[in-house]
Amino acid sequence: MTMSDSMANTETVATDRKVASSASAGTAPSLRIDGVSAAQLESVGIHAWFGERLVLENVDLVMERTKVTALIGPSGCGKSTFLRILNRMHEIVPSASLAGRVELDGDDIYDPNQRAATVRRHIGMVFQRPNPFPAMSIRDNVLAGLRFNKIRSSHKDEIVEEALVKAGLWSEVKDRQGALGGALSGGQQQRLCIARALAVKPAVLLMDEPCSALDPGSTLRIEQTIQEIAEEVTVVIVTHNMQQALRVSDKTAFFLAQDGNPGYIVEAGPTKEIFESPKDPRTADYVNGRFG
Ligand SMILES: Nc1ncnc2c1ncn2[C@@H]1O[C@H](COP(=O)(O)OP(=O)(O)OP(=O)(O)O)[C@@H](O)[C@H]1O
Ligand SMILES: [Mg+2]
Repeated sequence: MTMSDSMANTETVATDRKVASSASAGTAPSLRIDGVSAAQLESVGIHAWFGERLVLENVDLVMERTKVTALIGPSGCGKSTFLRILNRMHEIVPSASLAGRVELDGDDIYDPNQRAATVRRHIGMVFQRPNPFPAMSIRDNVLAGLRFNKIRSSHKDEIVEEALVKAGLWSEVKDRQGALGGALSGGQQQRLCIARALAVKPAVLLMDEPCSALDPGSTLRIEQTIQEIAEEVTVVIVTHNMQQALRVSDKTAFFLAQDGNPGYIVEAGPTKEIFESPKDPRTADYVNGRFG
């Protein structure tokens, strides 16, 4: 594609740019996965801007249900931006806009009648730095998402136990659920955040470098957790750790932004193929640590 083709292409989509959505009225189309476990997430032609600067171009990616998809690529290529677009966190940034579609089992999460809070309930997120509510008890941390979403339940004990078991934290905290979230170790705090995200029964869990602030032991524990929860929830994980991508993911997408150009997916496919027989030499260079 020539430079002018590329510009023209960008301008065409730019007319469809969505700025921070304030939709609330009207009938919210059902995100049909309510009460059902994992769902497929698909991005179609995603472009993202901060102000006038295009940072992601034409990202198509299918993140299959109950599979783990890893997003890899050098710093600044747009992995976190893409992840935040997948659950409508991108629109929180005042200068941010986007074009393209994101579908959860075929439902457009950017439908003007769809509430961002509902989308984020179904598509949860875990961040790089564990962010439990430090002055809240472990139990209340797990229940925080339910409270925020005004989900009532007479089975709170069961919900807390189930989420903590799934997050691999139950045996360590079952006898001190009243202790403060801030009193746990970093690795435990991250598993508490995973439990909090799982308690609302999301269809998808997005994880942005969830282990980068953790020691190797806690990292392996979280990786084990990811593989366990992937039986029930679709996982998308950003990682700079190639061994981690190999260990936990079924599919890998390699993002790249060259010379100040927007980020895009160079190639995506089964993790084994991306690491052992990539089609693009830049993928081979990256996964073998030759740049980035
Ligand atoms: N809030 C923001 N305002 C303006 N520009 C931003 C903002 N957030 C990110 N960017 C820019 O968008 C581009 C993509 O950033 P992003 O954080 O998505 O990259 P990344 O792949 O997650 O990088 P890293 O591996 O370092 O986390 C970068 O050029 C960055 O400077
Ligand atoms: Mg990032």
